[in-house]
Amino acid sequence: MNILGINAYHGNSSAAILCDGQLVTAVEEERFNRVKHAAGFPQNAVRYCLEEAGLTLRDVEHVAIPRNPWARMGTKLFYALRMPGFALDRSKVLTRFSGIERELAQACHVDPESVQAQQHRVEHHVAHLASAFLVSPFDQAAVLSTDGLGDFASTMWASGRGNRLEVHGAVSFPHSLGLYYTALSQYLGFWKFGDEYKVMGLAAYGEPAHEGEFRRMVKADHGHGFRLGLKYFCHHQTGPQMSWPEGGKTPVLGRLFSPYLEERLGKTRMPTEPIGKKHQDIAASLQAVLEEAYFRLLNSLYEKTRLKAVCLAGGVAFNCVANGKIFDRTPFSEVYVQPAAGDAGLAVGAAYYVYHQILGHPRSFVMDHAYWGPQFAPETIRQALQASALDSSKFSLQELENEELTRRAAEYIAAGKILGWFQGRAEWGPRALGNRSILVDPRRAEMKEVLNRRIKHREAFRPFAPSILEEATAEYFERSAASPFMNLAYSVRREKRSKIPASTHVDGTGRLQTVSRSANPLYWALIKDFEKLTGVPVLLNTSFNDNEPIVLKPREAIDCFLRTNMDVLVIGNHLIEKRTNLADPSPEPVFSA
Ligand SMILES: [Fe+2]
Repeated sequence: MNILGINAYHGNSSAAILCDGQLVTAVEEERFNRVKHAAGFPQNAVRYCLEEAGLTLRDVEHVAIPRNPWARMGTKLFYALRMPGFALDRSKVLTRFSGIERELAQACHVDPESVQAQQHRVEHHVAHLASAFLVSPFDQAAVLSTDGLGDFASTMWASGRGNRLEVHGAVSFPHSLGLYYTALSQYLGFWKFGDEYKVMGLAAYGEPAHEGEFRRMVKADHGHGFRLGLKYFCHHQTGPQMSWPEGGKTPVLGRLFSPYLEERLGKTRMPTEPIGKKHQDIAASLQAVLEEAYFRLLNSLYEKTRLKAVCLAGGVAFNCVANGKIFDRTPFSEVYVQPAAGDAGLAVGAAYYVYHQILGHPRSFVMDHAYWGPQFAPETIRQALQASALDSSKFSLQELENEELTRRAAEYIAAGKILGWFQGRAEWGPRALGNRSILVDPRRAEMKEVLNRRIKHREAFRPFAPSILEEATAEYFERSAASPFMNLAYSVRREKRSKIPASTHVDGTGRLQTVSRSANPLYWALIKDFEKLTGVPVLLNTSFNDNEPIVLKPREAIDCFLRTNMDVLVIGNHLIEKRTNLADPSPEPVFSA
């Protein structure tokens, strides 16, 4: 049985395909069309999924769409009557969804009449819940989905048992922890879609000096989870001004906060304005009050379910700082957050919901790694290198067996080089997890600044993340529960902070990826070789890109290597070094292991 899941007309559009309950592939449209958080119809992702599964559209029996325009109709009508612009927007959404069969046929170059698949509409947050629980390792778990807004809800909680989810409650528009975080991120000068994680990084520099004010923005509401103090916001008056453009563009969000917020906190920060102590404190207060509401939700979910495991999804589930504290601030002892916890993951969630909850099949799949995207044959990599016509006076190129490859790569990293690492299947979700990564030595404090200056061009306050051998986690971190998808931040043990300064944030935490030998043997071997050389089982791992979606194809990796000041590229079994990188010589070698 073949089920195609599609997240369309929404940020992070994506597609996934299941064959007899096994995930064959899942991928975001942005990786193909090179537009960050691309919305619209994921035509490239759909085509790739079918091709990878060896299917045509005619072989697909079910299409799962994580959007139900008819959900919460009463609330929608109430707001539509008060906001004509919003009513118009809703009617456009309905029109778009009614044409999905045609778009699907167009993407696959077939006659719309020939599409036989049965269509299923799965409510946004139900698909989020399914994306977390139904691919988790747990037979029973509490499940929480929290984000900005989807099908007019922002939060939903449930219990999962076997192949079924039972929804216990939800929070509807206009109350939303995601919109709260986005509104305050805008106030702090971060307006781009998906910028909230930057503000989460900034929070570590400040003190929650404005907690009292923020507690008036997000109030506890027993039975309903939380309520927003609406006078700080304007989305309930203007409608959620979010445009999800056609044609694969990045979504755009309108202003979400009201003039009252500025009255209370002072003038908004312009994006070009320097960040001061006040901004850091506002970010810290924002994060602290988000955590209070998040843990209230989680604790009341525990009271209701009494289950020891929890699965999380929705954009707020990317708040790794909050996730890392779950073990301390709730009774839950096991946490699962799948790699595409945000809206891209809806494609997988809707497909599994159809397979299990609607069609009744038992569970037989666990998402225990993130490598579900496209891969490229050695011949394709060789051709891409040939097409690049690298000048041998400027580049050295060698083809090596795996053992030699990881050993040499580890030596370059230990010597202070910046190394691009391109292997196997692309990661599902926004994090590079060792197949499309840029890697450097975490022992060198200066590497953060070097990486930013030479390649990443990110704000200096943002942290870089560590990849650690799974078996060494307890040695370096105060928690040892596996974090294979970089969705949890733990405190680095005090005595180890000076060992890995470049991947330890200012508050002593690290948003770690625990790397197991079974999930990614080659990446594990590389970190192991680095440990043999230096005594440190950790690499600093950042995504292989430069202000663009993570590279997908060999050609994109080579281009990124050539146009930036990266020193070494390992692509498949090829190791390429720039003979001179005169723009910025590498730092001095470190001597301590
Ligand atoms: Fe969502």
